[in-house]
Amino acid sequence: MANQQHSGHDDGGKTAVDHVRIFDTTLRDGEQTPGFSMDRRAKLRMAQMLEALGVDVLEAGFPQASPDDFAAVAQIAETLKTTTVCALARCQRGDIESAGRALEKAHHSRIHVFISTSPLHREFKLGMSKQQVLDASIAAVEQARGLCDEVEFSAEDATRTEPEYLAEVFSAAAAAGATTLNAPDTVGYLTPTEIAERFTWLRAHVKGAENVVFSAHCHDDLGLAVANSLAAVGAGARQVECTINGIGERAGNAALEEIVMALKVRGAWFGADSRIRTPQLYPASRLLAQLTGQPVPRNKAIVGANAFAHESGIHQHGMLKHRGTYEIMRPQDVGIAETTLVLGKHSGRAALRQRLEVLGHPLDDAALDALFPRFKALADQQREVTDDDLEALALGKEPRALGPWHLVQLDTSTHLGGASASVKLRHDDGRTAAEAAIGDGPVDAVLRAIERATGQPLDVAEFQVRAIGAGGDARGQAHLVARHDAREWRGHGTSTDIVEATAHAALSIVNHIERHAPHAAAAAAANL
Ligand code: KIV
Ligand code: ZN
Repeated sequence: MANQQHSGHDDGGKTAVDHVRIFDTTLRDGEQTPGFSMDRRAKLRMAQMLEALGVDVLEAGFPQASPDDFAAVAQIAETLKTTTVCALARCQRGDIESAGRALEKAHHSRIHVFISTSPLHREFKLGMSKQQVLDASIAAVEQARGLCDEVEFSAEDATRTEPEYLAEVFSAAAAAGATTLNAPDTVGYLTPTEIAERFTWLRAHVKGAENVVFSAHCHDDLGLAVANSLAAVGAGARQVECTINGIGERAGNAALEEIVMALKVRGAWFGADSRIRTPQLYPASRLLAQLTGQPVPRNKAIVGANAFAHESGIHQHGMLKHRGTYEIMRPQDVGIAETTLVLGKHSGRAALRQRLEVLGHPLDDAALDALFPRFKALADQQREVTDDDLEALALGKEPRALGPWHLVQLDTSTHLGGASASVKLRHDDGRTAAEAAIGDGPVDAVLRAIERATGQPLDVAEFQVRAIGAGGDARGQAHLVARHDAREWRGHGTSTDIVEATAHAALSIVNHIERHAPHAAAAAAANL
């Protein structure tokens, strides 16, 4: 693509200097929410990913919550080498003892003690007076200090706490030994301007402010978590608490990938940056989605499927001339292999010509004019025109006839808790391959069987089925995106049976890989 050099992310050439610490709480605030729980193995895998990503502090869990949480924190603490591992504890002796024990083998350890400070929480949740909350805070920090390398103190519901009282509690926590003071917007209530004012005020009124790091922890109830976190950074916060994909209580926590990329793209504006290895952002997001079974919305900033995809003709034309026209960061900066120009009914001649050229079918103007109406007709019928469709159009063939693999037979059966599938395939070189596999359901089973038969692993990034037509004539269209060799490959298939449609979609991807990367496909087959 032309003009790759200008990404548009250089706000005036000032150097970003200050380090904003990234405190990841995916495995604590994120994991404790409905739909996102993970077992111990999954937590460890995610923790290792977060260390590779370069988070400064990783909140691994709340050891007093359950023996399993304790074991998960202990295992993560023992395994991670460079990242500070943090354990959460209420301002209670038992919690802090558990946190200390869980962190015993950590290379770098932090205990995060918290207590509610707002009037509503003091009265209805804790039944404690201001003085009792203050005393409990000091005692907790003093106890934690002896059990780990560093102590963080959080005033839960800080943003709805009387500012003078909050400053008094923070001053006492700092005097007792806390080196990070966290002011959570627990219920996502403040606006960016207010949160900036609050941090500025706290930094001016907390005694010992110059010796501590102020931290923001924002929830997304009004959709302001990232904006609020960045406003806090603008007002001097030097730690931000966030989660991958923004998972967390209710509407979630601030999304780590959004904060990190805002700091990177607009570093000169903030005068600060994180130390995150941004090309690991997309892999971390994908891993979390896989481990929790919760897909990332297409339009999610930074890591959603549409974040670097363009379909409209006007945008595609602009992108082909200069990528800075519609992209302010490079997909590679967040770990996505390349920009996708999705070919669909909104696309124009320029993108069609460019894609056909990449696929090895350069067309002159007359040939393009002849093909364009057929492309538009196909795009009207289906959501997206894949590379397979384009090659078939260019060669005047049916996509399924392109091969080299063809589906000869498919059988599935479902049973309680799973399904099995068997496939028979024919290859253009004369081979036949018959394989069977079991899976969570018939779709999973048929994908596994095709992987075995073709020797081509399918790392599925996206799978959707939609109905075409209505009533007795309705057909299912399966749309599949799989990753291979740091690229996304797209395929679709149509049939009256959605499992068969899926098989065609999968074969279209396998075929495409084999036609365009035959060596990789052969190597994959040899390894299976
Ligand atoms: O949202 C919150 O207040 C919290 C605290 C425990 C830090 O998660
Ligand atoms: Zn929280």
